[in-house]
Amino acid sequence: MKKLRVLSVFGTRPEAIKMIPLVRELARQEAFESLCAVTAQHRQMLDSVLDIFGLKPDYDLDIMESRQSLFTITAKALTGMEGVLAAAKPDLVLVHGDTSTTFVGALAAFYGKIPVGHVEAGLRTYDKYSPFPEEMNRCLVSRIAALHFCPTEANVENLRREGITQGVYQTGNTVIDALQTTVKEDYTFAESALRELDFEKKRVILVTCHRRENYGQPMEDILSALAEVAREFDDVELVYPVHLSPVVQEAAHRHLDGLPNVRLIPPVDVADMHNLMARCHLVLTDSGGLQEEAPSLGKPVLVLRRETERPEAVIAGTVKLAGVKKEDILAMTRELLTDEGAYAAMAHAANPYGDGTACRRIAAAIQEYFS
Ligand code: UD1
Ligand code: UDP
Repeated sequence: MKKLRVLSVFGTRPEAIKMIPLVRELARQEAFESLCAVTAQHRQMLDSVLDIFGLKPDYDLDIMESRQSLFTITAKALTGMEGVLAAAKPDLVLVHGDTSTTFVGALAAFYGKIPVGHVEAGLRTYDKYSPFPEEMNRCLVSRIAALHFCPTEANVENLRREGITQGVYQTGNTVIDALQTTVKEDYTFAESALRELDFEKKRVILVTCHRRENYGQPMEDILSALAEVAREFDDVELVYPVHLSPVVQEAAHRHLDGLPNVRLIPPVDVADMHNLMARCHLVLTDSGGLQEEAPSLGKPVLVLRRETERPEAVIAGTVKLAGVKKEDILAMTRELLTDEGAYAAMAHAANPYGDGTACRRIAAAIQEYFS
């Protein structure tokens, strides 16, 4: 029987973390030929994930530039994808989530009249400019895709409200599949700064902050709140692997350099990240992925954004929206650091994003579609 040629397209760190388990699952199954193209919208942060999971892409567009704009990412990736599609001749293109690579991957496949499967479909804030440009990217991909792999029931419902009911599957999120392979009891960190941490003596707060819509005043407020937390609580250690965006690097170092209980470190590999999260006390983040991973590890999360497209863990009680105002972030962090009851109420494992079998479910749905 002819194998289905499935081309997975991704370009940034989170897409790679969530797509590689699927690329692998398809490669394991007889029915598929699993190919992979990266735009390399991220270079170092993508390569770190490719290295950890030992994946060598079949195509690499290598588009990243320092301080790249949405225009250059989109134009370079779209031009590059024409050649990739001509060479790979896939039966199906898979894209993930809501980045510029995601949108371009879907648009290119549409131009080539190749069906698209959207992994992590149906997330919405209903605010066109927040997250920006992600909300519009995922809405546009939903118009193009033939198959929609939704992590949760709420995501399925969002698509239904937009009139999308065909080819919709609730699969869970593939990040939970990834998490099950990385977190280990006897783990040794690759990053030396993490090996120096004493999780018994200090309450470690894991921080990440990188979103484009937080650039400028929101990021100034967030970082200023973090500095205040570090000054106020000397039994706390803030660990912040800083995204390689020059905008983020500059702001983070300007606010936090020189504070003895703040560690600004380069991005860490995903195995370090997941094991750090499993051992920390609390997570402060504007990342999408961390909002999904931390609840399943039983860690409270304060989200440094005004809204979230991931309400499930808020409903489950492990995630709270802190917003982007300094006083709000400070008040909510102080509460979790001083009120044991408030902390305990959030520190319980919740798995709203699946049971670690999302990849198998997606593979089965693809087979069903083509049969
Ligand atoms: C992108 C995605 C965002 C996702 C985030 C994950 C878009 C528009 N944004 O945002 O949805 O949440 O990735 O992290 O698709 N850089 C490096 N090396 C790297 C990666 C980035 O130097 O490995 C620097 C470059 O200067 C680059 C800049 O970071 O120009 C910004 O990268 P970009 O992909 O444009 O935006 P992100 O903020 O990472
Ligand atoms: N991550 C990582 N190293 C880091 C920071 C994040 O491996 O230094 C992982 C994290 O565990 C999650 C993903 O990267 O799986 C989230 O990526 P990011 O925050 O860049 O993007 P978002 O999820 O906001 O789109």
